[in-house]
Amino acid sequence: MKVLVIGSGGREHTLVWKIHQSPKVSKIYCAPGNAGTLRIAENIDIMADDINALATFAEGEGINLTVVGPELPLTLGIVDEFERRGLKIFGPNKKAAEIEASKVFTKDLLKRYDIPTGRYSIFDSAGDAKRYIKEIGVPIVVKADGLAAGKGVIVCHEEKEAIKAIDSIMEEKVFGGAGDRVLIEEFLEGEEASFMVFTDGKNILPMVSSQDHKAIYDGDKGPNTGGMGAYSPAPVITPDICREIMDRVMTPAIKGMAAEGRPYKGVLYAGLMISNGSPVVLEFNARFGDPEAQPILIRMESDIIPVIEAVIDGNIDKTDIKWREEPSVCVVMVSKGYPGSYQKGNRIEGLEDVERIEGVEIFHAGTRLSQGNIATDGGRVLGVTATGIDIKEAIGKAYEAVSMIRWDGVYYRKDIGRKALFVMGSA
Ligand code: AMP
Ligand code: GLY
Repeated sequence: MKVLVIGSGGREHTLVWKIHQSPKVSKIYCAPGNAGTLRIAENIDIMADDINALATFAEGEGINLTVVGPELPLTLGIVDEFERRGLKIFGPNKKAAEIEASKVFTKDLLKRYDIPTGRYSIFDSAGDAKRYIKEIGVPIVVKADGLAAGKGVIVCHEEKEAIKAIDSIMEEKVFGGAGDRVLIEEFLEGEEASFMVFTDGKNILPMVSSQDHKAIYDGDKGPNTGGMGAYSPAPVITPDICREIMDRVMTPAIKGMAAEGRPYKGVLYAGLMISNGSPVVLEFNARFGDPEAQPILIRMESDIIPVIEAVIDGNIDKTDIKWREEPSVCVVMVSKGYPGSYQKGNRIEGLEDVERIEGVEIFHAGTRLSQGNIATDGGRVLGVTATGIDIKEAIGKAYEAVSMIRWDGVYYRKDIGRKALFVMGSA
């Protein structure tokens, strides 16, 4: 079977890597891909949001299955267009992807189906939003309604920060139309975790849990990024909490989407705060997390293709997934300056030595091949992912590999996974 993977990040290299292991697959294409996908797939120079060009390519090449990595094409309706042309594709359609495209839609959905989430108010006028902030005070969280590349959420500990957030989102329109409405949410304390499931619209198959590290600096300091590293499992998600997430979050969300004429097929990702021992929903995403996909898929023992096919065919109740017991850690190596501006085109060294270490995979994100060398080509550059007997060994192996990789202006957090050690009481 011929498979097309759409996207160019660490998540997409991981998907290509996992799909490549399937005996059912004879050829993989990745559009547009990176220097990592290039080694096991054919990169196709079409951008992830160029839906018509992608569908025409899939038709012409006789692609049997398309797997969408990022949210943008999903929210633009790539699944609708492929299905209209009779092409098989994995992911939610446009109406279902609204769960990520609009935070206001999702909050209202959560409320209608009594799914635990923080208290909130919605504003379409900057003046009203500011008056509200002055009335209820801080800490508070300001969120742009639409997609903002992971930057539309501002946790404010001071009133002037919150007012500034309203100004930049609603007046200066730093996220364009995504900031026409804002959501102001109560600040929740607790431990964050990510929980993803495969769903065919009726049945739900959970993945193992994971935890991201969103802030740029050690100790969760500094601005939020797309994700600086992740590990799996997240010890904070105990078997009881896992059951609660399935019963109180995933099941009602999937049932609710179906009841509202938006049957949801694909991967549903819940960003959760575990607050006083119970899960509270911060957000839903319509796709695999990045970098969460890296430590999760490295633990997936089963072939991913039958799972994807069962999601599309509507029978994942007849499917099961086998997971490796060993925990895993992914350390994201970025270009200095990220999530602000950064240099591109710096030559990366040391990759070949790391490839010889057992139990370590280097998933590429912003990389490209330049005159025979691998060079940086984005903010998040590599996701160095390791498994180990325990989380401590996995952390050690990941950082051993990271220490062997160099380029001008490399930066990474030194504390990825440390939280898991604390939760388990072994640090
Ligand atoms: P989101 O995109 O909604 O998941 O928000 C991005 C990040 O902002 C989350 O991963 C949290 O670290 C933080 N965050 C979002 N909502 C809240 C909240 N209500 N209370 C505290 N932190 C939050
Ligand atoms: N790592 C967070 C996300 O994928 O949205």
